[in-house]
Amino acid sequence: MKKILIISCFLFFFPNFTFANELNIFTSRHYDSDIQLYEKFTSITGIKINIISGEDAALEKRMIEEGKDTKADLYITADAGRLGLFDKKGMFQNSISPIIKAKVPENFRSDNWTGIAKRARIIFYAKDRVSSDEIKNLRYEDLSKPNWKNRITIRQSNSIYNQSLVASLISNNGIAKTEEWVNGFVKNFARDPQDNDRGQILAVASGEADLAIANTYYYALMLSGQKGKDQQEAAKKVTPFFPNQNDRGAHMNISGAGVLKTSKNHENAIKLLEFLLTKESQEHIVNNTFEYPIVENIEPNKLIKNTSLGNNFIQDLKTPVKEYSIFQEEALKLMLKAGWK
Ligand SMILES: [Fe+2]
Repeated sequence: MKKILIISCFLFFFPNFTFANELNIFTSRHYDSDIQLYEKFTSITGIKINIISGEDAALEKRMIEEGKDTKADLYITADAGRLGLFDKKGMFQNSISPIIKAKVPENFRSDNWTGIAKRARIIFYAKDRVSSDEIKNLRYEDLSKPNWKNRITIRQSNSIYNQSLVASLISNNGIAKTEEWVNGFVKNFARDPQDNDRGQILAVASGEADLAIANTYYYALMLSGQKGKDQQEAAKKVTPFFPNQNDRGAHMNISGAGVLKTSKNHENAIKLLEFLLTKESQEHIVNNTFEYPIVENIEPNKLIKNTSLGNNFIQDLKTPVKEYSIFQEEALKLMLKAGWK
């Protein structure tokens, strides 16, 4: 009886205390390589990891509906805008430890979430159909000009990657100028927006479009041969190009994570985040997903490094990725208004 009373008192004062040394991760990253990292973390720390994986919309709905009863400790996803919007709903707590602060550049994190890997959303073009004059010094802003009419391919406006790209344009150029830009850009589409990022690269390779916008890791994934010989050959037919190299740099985005406000294992969650930022983990991530490391002085995968993708491009470090969530809603409005399917 006395024992029960002591435990009850303890739980009254420490309601978030958990007896199990565990960590519950909700993730939309469908990479076996992530699981290998979690297993390694468990073997080092003894902290057991439970994984709930699924699509972002379903995971977020579940965490919001479960409220304070949710088992989720850490939400891992892609796109800074998505993390920012989830944070605005009050779902995260401050999880930026001194180690995270020291390792992740400020523009790739907020107070409540952090990037764990980076990607650039850039141009892939057909060398035989795009002149050197056209590509030289190209900026995202130029893609609304009439010389690109019927030549550009990009996925639909419901792609959060596109919403973040347009949000970054709003952040830099304002709403009115971006509206003008979106209207011109949509007129330049070679086909109705469809398919994923690899599909855009395939469309340039097959001659359906002259220029595609896609994330860097999809191109490397195609080059790796993991998506088959046809996609590997298609990737070889296109040339990557980093826009805005004479001004703010190429549009960057992240894979990232935040610790839930209601987490009962928040110290373990921070431990995992710090583990993901170690040299070994960063190398493991970039060699399996072809993203860029978020921590400096780590080499990207050979397929990235040995192509013109390299690591020596100007990244947009002037637009903090946390700004994407501020402008994403407005971005989508402009995209839909312009008829971007
Ligand atoms: Fe992706």
